[in-house]
Amino acid sequence: MNLLFIRSIDGRILMGITMFVGMMIMVGWVAINEEARMQAFVEQHTGRAIERGAELYASLCSECHGEEGYGAGDRAPGLNNPHLFGYDPVGLQTAAIINANRALVRLNKDIDNLLAELTDADNPPSEERQNEILAALEDLEAQVDEQDVGIEAAVAERVTVLESLDTAVDNGLFPLWDTVVDIEQTAVDEVEVYFVNNGTRLAQVGWSGDLRGYIITTLIHGRPGSGNVWPNSEGMVAWSQTAGGALRQDQIEDLAAYILNWDKGAGWASEDYISVAQYGKPLADGSLPSEPPPPPAGDNVPGILTRWAAEEVVGSAVSGELLYDQEFGCTDCHRDGASAPDTIGTFTRVTNERLTLPQFAGYSFEQYVIESVVRPGDYVVDSYSSGLMPANFGARMTDQQLADIVAFLMTQG
Ligand code: HEC
Ligand code: HEC
Repeated sequence: MNLLFIRSIDGRILMGITMFVGMMIMVGWVAINEEARMQAFVEQHTGRAIERGAELYASLCSECHGEEGYGAGDRAPGLNNPHLFGYDPVGLQTAAIINANRALVRLNKDIDNLLAELTDADNPPSEERQNEILAALEDLEAQVDEQDVGIEAAVAERVTVLESLDTAVDNGLFPLWDTVVDIEQTAVDEVEVYFVNNGTRLAQVGWSGDLRGYIITTLIHGRPGSGNVWPNSEGMVAWSQTAGGALRQDQIEDLAAYILNWDKGAGWASEDYISVAQYGKPLADGSLPSEPPPPPAGDNVPGILTRWAAEEVVGSAVSGELLYDQEFGCTDCHRDGASAPDTIGTFTRVTNERLTLPQFAGYSFEQYVIESVVRPGDYVVDSYSSGLMPANFGARMTDQQLADIVAFLMTQG
């Protein structure tokens, strides 16, 4: 106590400074420690979630997804898997090819413009300008060559990477790779689209959210029908209690934390691709969370016919009738012949009357109906006016739906 009783003014100032410094040290110590404590708390919390997730995983999931998450016995895809975590083994090469292709499109456009100017008979360029154009063309051609070399190098590099991952490719990484090699000989762009769409698991299934959301949604809803795609298991059931499953939401989140903890960030390597025993399949029997819709049939009649022949599209009259009556409301007009030719008798009318007209020489029933549906304006039935039948059905229905409708009309003798 005596020590604190300081009389001299100097002593008081000194005392004040000492106390102030002391306080700052204490505040600082608490602040630093508070942050560390928070961090430790968060880590502990996440650590505990991962631990609980690990226990749940071992007892409920490892049987199909494998003890270490590599997939087991052709029962389910690997989850401890760089493809699932978004690491595209040929992503850099694919990006290089796409960028080079973009550059090529621009260069070719510039070349076309210059050539048009050079050969413009109405407005021929001066000799000076001609020389300028020729020099520019030479320069552009050199740039085209440069891009071509770049593409070739990236394609070769991609082949090398994929060869080093042969085992993974055999295990289902890029499962359509064989088909793609075929396509590659005809259209390079399709190959690029293929790699962009299959580079990561989320791109492959068309999921636009993040991986955590994908895992949690899969766990909540399961994948109805996935047992058909993975015949050695019953498939992925809905795990959430809200969907009649066994798990609470917090347990589902613990499982997601455990799976996400497999992420190696930039540390994924080719060994990791090879460790995965089986990869996710691109089409799980229509049970994917957000499957992109099939493209519309369009209005190119010969194109539609060629596609149907190549893809062996076969229509179903039963679903065709439903589409005709309900989904597309064809019956609304084609009911009794008052506002449109009657549905009943379509087959006989088309074969006996329409197809005997000179402009339909060589047409099949199928071709006539497809044209009537997707290009109603091309031929307008006598006594009806043009423009009554909607012209946009080709954009609204898929090949399969159109084929179903044709099959149905074939039964309307
Ligand atoms: C009976 C076997 C089976 C069990 C048990 C099982 N799953 Fe699955 N799981 C599957 C199948 C099959 C798929 C693939 C579904 C598909 O292809 O559409 C799948 C898909 C998944 C996916 C999506 C993977 C991807 O690449 O699309 C996740 C995540 C997942 N399961 C997590 C779990 C977790 C966590 C558990 C434990 C609670 C579990 N699964 C239990 C069979 C199972
Ligand atoms: C708004 C009324 C309307 C709707 C809806 C409509 N059509 Fe038509 N359709 C017509 C009219 C009018 C004609 C005759 C004039 C013409 O050929 O453009 C016609 C002609 C046809 C023909 C040629 C018939 C023949 O005897 O030559 C076919 C086939 C046909 N429609 C099928 C369909 C189908 C399939 C749908 C539904 C996907 C449909 N139509 C929906 C009004 C309609």
